[in-house]
Amino acid sequence: MSQKKVYVGMSADIIHPGHLNIIREAQKFGTVTVGVLTDSAIASYKRLPYLNYKQRAMIVESLKGVDNVIPQETLDYVPNLNLIKPDFVVHGDDWKEGVQRETRQKVIDAISQWGGKLIDVPYTQGISSTQLNEKLKEIGTTPQIRLKRLRRLINARPLVRICESHSGLTGLIIENTKVFINGIVKEFDGMWSSSLVDSTLRGKPDIEAVDLTTRLQSLNDILECTTKPIIFDDDTGGKIEHFAFTVRTLERSGVSAVIIEDKIGLKKNSLLGTDAVQTQDSIENFCDKIKVGKKAQVTDDFIIIARIESFIAGKGLNDAMERALAYIDSGVDGIMIHSKDKSGEDIKEFCSVLRDKNKTIPIVVVPTTFNHIPEDELQSWGINVVIYANHMLRSSYPAMFNTAKSILTYGRSYEANDLCMSVKEILELIPGTK
Ligand code: SPV
Ligand code: MG
Repeated sequence: MSQKKVYVGMSADIIHPGHLNIIREAQKFGTVTVGVLTDSAIASYKRLPYLNYKQRAMIVESLKGVDNVIPQETLDYVPNLNLIKPDFVVHGDDWKEGVQRETRQKVIDAISQWGGKLIDVPYTQGISSTQLNEKLKEIGTTPQIRLKRLRRLINARPLVRICESHSGLTGLIIENTKVFINGIVKEFDGMWSSSLVDSTLRGKPDIEAVDLTTRLQSLNDILECTTKPIIFDDDTGGKIEHFAFTVRTLERSGVSAVIIEDKIGLKKNSLLGTDAVQTQDSIENFCDKIKVGKKAQVTDDFIIIARIESFIAGKGLNDAMERALAYIDSGVDGIMIHSKDKSGEDIKEFCSVLRDKNKTIPIVVVPTTFNHIPEDELQSWGINVVIYANHMLRSSYPAMFNTAKSILTYGRSYEANDLCMSVKEILELIPGTK
């Protein structure tokens, strides 16, 4: 038997005959090492895999023809190739075109240094991971799988991107909207259930007047037709004793995380800043609330995030930092720092100081007022999660308002045609309508 070394890189999330064909071909050339792409390597160019790295590596290890499995930490093969110095790399020939072309060229350049050869195996027609993914999406998810997903995303992605969703329809927009930029798919990683939006939708002020049971109704509509993780805005978390029940309720529904803000009394929306009375809780009391929440959760996967309102209440960095460190000591899983300052400078400074003291605690921001700062820059500040907190509602309202005005103005709806999606489009929007 040949002692030549063969390298195959794969994500191996949903193993199909195409993968087995590649391994069979690879086997003909020598000893096969499969580099299984880690969650971060996959998340750098497409959605997070269904199975985590350990699970995928375990499956590949047991495939006939595979001799070794190692992690491939980047989409780029070169680090592993330099490590193994394979005589052959085997891959489906589909990477000759499109995004992966560059990756392929790098492989050829790297292995040619030691006389290695690339074998492009004809692509197995009629089956692909992309097709299978679409089918899996149709099947849906379970509360447990959805719940775990946010933690996995925070670990795998440099920046997790979340957008507000308040209904089944907005859920579908966040679930399915994609843009392709330089061959990389960009999409939202999950959804934010906002107290401001849930209240406004019901014609009520954002003062904790809409109760949990009511909010769970729209949440349920979202859960019914989406698979992405959800972060729930639980305002102040209410009474400590009540917060324990909220955690259990959310966790049971498959919500991944809850954010509670360190305010007390009649809660007013943070974007009012000091125009409203914003009373912060004592550090001691809020730490107790965190501890009670952490104790109440059933799984290790549920995430409780403490939201610091010091900047909103007109206090400075010292107060915010003292709170952050105390909340982290109490066992909180993440810190959200909020501000209504347009510059973003206070947030940047906070992140820099917190990252000096703590390298790993996830930092969450809601850049509604400092929204000129691009995601790359937020990421460079050490931020892990960005939430676009109200944009589905804020964009739909002007559209609806203009349509209403147009109908009144012209005494018919004809002039509003261009403001509306066509009847054909709405009938085709939701599968099963026709
Ligand atoms: C919300 O979306 O309800 C929030 C964020 O809590 S903010 O409106 O900025 O306070
Ligand atoms: Mg809120």
